[in-house]
Formats: sequence, C-alpha cells, structure tokens
Amino acid sequence: MITQSTIDKIFETSRIEEVVADFVQLKRVGSNLRGLSPFTNEKTPSFYVSPAKQIYKCFSSGSGGNVVGFLMELEKMSYPEALRHLAERYGIEIEETERTDEQKEAISRRESLYLVNEFAAKHFVRQLHQSEEGVSIGLSYFKERGFSTETIKRFELGYSVKQSDALHQAAREKGFDPKILMELGLVLENDRGPYDRFRERVMFPIHNLSGRVAGFGGRTLRTDKKIAKYINSSESEIYNKSKLLYGLYQARKSIVKNDRCYLVEGYTDVISFSQAGVENTIATSGTSLTEEQVRQIKRLTENVVILFDGDAAGIKASMRGIDMFLREGLRVQTLLFPEGEDPDSYARSHSREELHDFLQKEVKDFLLFKVDFLLAEADGNPMMKAEAIREVVRTLSLMPSEVDRDVYVRESSRLLDTDENLLFSEVNRARSKQVEKEHASKKAAPAENISVIHKKTEETVHQAKKSTTYSQEAHLCKLLLNFGQTNCRFRLINEEGVLSKPAEEEESVASYIVNEIEADGLRFQEKLFFHIYEAYKTAVLEGEPLPEQKQFLRSEDQECVKIAIDLTEEKYRLSDWNAKGIFPKSEMDTLEQNVRESVLRFKEKMLHQLIEDSKAKLLESESDATTSEIMKELHQLMGLHKLIQKMVGQDV
Ligand code: CTP
Ligand code: MN
Repeated sequence: MITQSTIDKIFETSRIEEVVADFVQLKRVGSNLRGLSPFTNEKTPSFYVSPAKQIYKCFSSGSGGNVVGFLMELEKMSYPEALRHLAERYGIEIEETERTDEQKEAISRRESLYLVNEFAAKHFVRQLHQSEEGVSIGLSYFKERGFSTETIKRFELGYSVKQSDALHQAAREKGFDPKILMELGLVLENDRGPYDRFRERVMFPIHNLSGRVAGFGGRTLRTDKKIAKYINSSESEIYNKSKLLYGLYQARKSIVKNDRCYLVEGYTDVISFSQAGVENTIATSGTSLTEEQVRQIKRLTENVVILFDGDAAGIKASMRGIDMFLREGLRVQTLLFPEGEDPDSYARSHSREELHDFLQKEVKDFLLFKVDFLLAEADGNPMMKAEAIREVVRTLSLMPSEVDRDVYVRESSRLLDTDENLLFSEVNRARSKQVEKEHASKKAAPAENISVIHKKTEETVHQAKKSTTYSQEAHLCKLLLNFGQTNCRFRLINEEGVLSKPAEEEESVASYIVNEIEADGLRFQEKLFFHIYEAYKTAVLEGEPLPEQKQFLRSEDQECVKIAIDLTEEKYRLSDWNAKGIFPKSEMDTLEQNVRESVLRFKEKMLHQLIEDSKAKLLESESDATTSEIMKELHQLMGLHKLIQKMVGQDV
C-alpha cells in the first residue's frame, strides 16, 4: 500500500493540466482549459480542465474527476497504477507499507506485463551499450545509420544478442515469471526448451501514450533474405498493433505545439525525422490505419501530413486508409518524396534547413493530390477517368463539413474538367447514402457499445430511484463542503416561528447542521451524501478537526470525487470571499439564513416522507397493538412537521 503522506504529496505536486496535456490539446478559456474529449469522438470541444481546482469535467461523456480519476478513466489504470504513474512523472519517491502475499498477487496482470516489457527494454539497452556483441554489431549499426547517442537514448533503442536465452535467463534471475515472457512473445518454446524470440536484432521499444513499453520491433542485421527484416512482439493484452502508433509518446508534445503531425511508414523514418528536428512524426507499424489511431491523433491535432515514398501501387493502396482522416474531419496534406528516397534517407542526406524547406514547399492538399494522381493514372482513358471521378465523389462525400465539401467540389470539378453541378449532385447523393449508412451502423450498436448503453440504463434507473430528500441532502452537503468550517452566529426560531437575535457564541456551519439533524434523529438517505455527512458528523461529535474539501476530491472512490466536484462547483459558492475566509456582514447573514433554511427544508421533506411511510404501515398493520403504536408515532411526526412547516413559512 502507498502511504497516505505519499498520496498527499502526489496530489500536491501533480498538475492536472500538465497530465491532461499529454493526451489532449487544451486551449485556455477564461480560468479553465478546453479541448476535445478523449473519451468520445466529439467534434466540438466540451472537455474542461480547471487548474485552480485540479479537476476535469467532460460534458460529452458525463465523466469528471481529479488527476488520478482522469488516468483511471482514460488509461484504464487502477488507483495505485495511476498514483505510481504520477509519482514517476513528477519524480516523487513512493513510500509503501509492507505488502502481504495476497496484495503482491493482486498487482494487476497488466501491470506485470508492463513490468516485464520494461525489464526487457532495459535489458536490451544494457546489451547495446555494455555487451561486446551489442557494441560491435548493434551500436555500430546505429552509428552508421547516423543515429546520435541522444537519439538512441530518446527512443530507448537496444540490442538483443545471439545467445538464445540471454533475456530468458536475465528475467528469471530477477524472478519474473517465464509465462509472462511467453505471453508477451519475448520468449518462445520448442522441444529443447524456451528461447528468446528476438536474437541478433536491434530493438525498437514501442511505447503507449503514457510512455509504458507495450511491445517491440526488432530489425535483423543479417542480409539473409530468408530472415524477416523486422519482427514485432506478438499481440497481447497490452500490445495491440492496430491501436498503437510508433513514436506518439515521444512526439505528442511537439504535435500539440506545432498543431500538426507527420505520418510516416516506419521506425527509422520517425527516428531520423526526430533527430533532424521534426519531432512531431509518428508511424503506423506496418498495418493500415485504424479508426482508433485516427482518434488518438485527432485528440492532439487536426492537421496531418502523410509522407509517401515508393511506387504508385503503394500510394494507391494507402489512399483508402487516408479517407478515414477526412471522415473524421481532419485536414490532410500529402508529400511525395523523390524517386528512390524515403523520409529516413532524405533526412539523412539533407541538412535540417533543406528538410524544413522541403516539408514547407512540397506539401499538397490530399484531395487535390488524389485527383492529380488518379488523372495521371487514367492518362486520357475515358473508362479510367470515369472511375477516377467516382472515386473522388466517394472521398468528397466523406467530408463532414459542408463548407469543406463545397470548396473541394469546385476545385475538383476544375481539375477533373467535369460539370460542377453534376459533381455537386453526385456528392450529395453519395453523402445521403453515407449518412444513412452511419445511422444504420449506429443503430446496430457494436458489441463494445453495449456496456455503455447498459451503464446508461443503470444510471437512469438509479436516477429514478433517487430518494425524496435528494436535492435537500445535496444542498446540505454543498454547504458542508464549501462552508463547513465557517463560523456564524446562528439565530434560533421558536415554536411560533419567531427568529431570535443572532447568538452570542459563534458556531461552525458543520456543527450547526450536524447538531440540528442529530437532535431530531434524522438520517441521510442517499448513500454518497450519507458518507460526506458522516465524515462531518464524526468530526463534530468527536471534537476532531473538520474534514477538508480536498479529502473528498482525492478519495479513492471516484463516485465520491465526482459528487464532490459537482458540489464544489463555482456556481454554488456564495462568493469568492469564502476562499479567503473573509465575509462581509451581509454575506455572513446570507450564509446563516441559507444554512438555517436548508436544514429546515431537509427536515420538512424528511418528516413528510416519514409520515407517508407511517401511513403506509398503518394500512398494512394487522394488530391493534401495532396500529396504536403507529398512530402514536404518526401523531408525533405530524406535530413536528407542522412546527417545521411553520418555521419554514416564517422564514421563507
Ligand atoms: N518495415 C517493417 N517491416 C518490414 C520492412 C519495413 O515494419 N518487413 C518498416 C520499418 O518500420 C522500417 C520502415 O518500414 O523502419 C522502412 O523500411 P525499410 O527501409 O525496408 O527498413 P530499414 O530498416 O530502413 O532498412 P534499409 O536500411 O534497408 O533501408
Ligand atoms: Mn530504409
């Protein structure tokens, strides 16, 4: 277990705006920051971060929480995983209470997969720099390729030696479970026993967005054509090729800063570009682009430049994949390298300035590039030209923005030398088909959405079952959380509903609320509010220091964090003076009255409910004895209710 003092230190040091900015492009709006929700596929930003309060709120998914909750929600980390991630990011040393064997076992499976991968990554780095073979073969290869020491470090490049069980042995010595090595595809097994999968290869670790090692790519240094040039980790719980983008972890800040991202083919392109100062470069790992990857990019920028090398066939093959960017409303540009050059070789054979100039001058709008490309391919053949027009229509119809479509249709019609109106009507027709299709696929909710729908239903049911005193309890908790410690001179109300002068003695808001509610033996109905109230009640009754807001905002229970955030929203504050503990007199009076009335309203609602319950019991009562018992209770409740109604009436 991580000690409370470490947890406090982590919360005190972490800045939610920095942690969120690792994943989302944020822009300042007033005192908050705003961006596209990383949880949904929204097109207009409704995701907010409050640096002052150290919380986020996402209006499109309805989630919200503190910095830990954010990581738990987005990266699917457990509470301790999220704390550890932050501790590492901010260089905080973790103090732990001794773990029991059970606790050791409970460390999540995913965590152990990551730990083994990270051990392997360190092992490969060590081999590269410290083993004779690593230095003479691996390191000299990287140097020959022109990778600097700094670059090798930045991408955590390594080397896996020829010895067939070097990694397996090293991991076992460290006490790692060989089964996990196999699950990750780092070790395989044949009849002679386990052996390392990556041998005599330079190693490229592949990080996920939070910088953990999800997998590896390994390049052989042999020229033997029978050996695969590159091999990758096998798919596992943490390595999903179609979700990861190589270099994204290293590139993310530069992508946000430049509001642009370069998409290349492979590891060496990313690394060479980064070394040449174009750090906002990422690559798919040899697979065609997936929707998930497009979304990850879109959270950081809406501007993508796709770098092509190679032949026409290769370009044509990747065009469909690029359409996905357009469908998501991103702006796509393309850049074609000269014959025989790829991004890696170009970056190596040119100066930084030349590369920079090339990237500036040679970018072309993707759609116009595509039109040009298809026209060149058709080469005057009418059949092929008709096919090209159909293909362009299809692509145009994917663009969600009407303005974009309008501009591009005009431009395309000029380039294709076709009638503008004809092109418009074709695109519109394809567009309505497209929308229909999207609609249909939304209706037939894919499997992964079912849990979301399920959750929504649960929420609705939950809301339907809200207790009658929900809003009164919420209001009392708001007062406790925001003003619990504030002292007031409360007025008393007598049974005629007449208010006394303010009391001589000051009393805290929390103490007043707790004593009033306990005196009448009432209880909060709503579970989460009950917990908040209980924390104040215990403190008041036992004379201990009152809980602080941050205690709830930092709770492990994310539901509690969410409620606490809602209840401490700015709009519920009487005024900003509270933050400084200064209240002008009139403001104090408002608070005193607000607290007093809120307690009464809760009591009134609660008693009303108790009376209803009592009446229901009366109808079900089967013996005279219980009936008279209930009657007595009812009588009492109604007396108290009347009194309170009078007080409320007088006050309001
Ligand atoms: N690539 C891959 N699998 C392959 C070949 C290539 O994943 N079988 C990816 C790698 O990410 C590589 C990129 O495509 O970085 C470029 O391919 P290539 O130029 O063939 O690889 P290099 O390592 O640059 O080899 P060379 O030195 O021969 O150019
Ligand atoms: Mn190459």
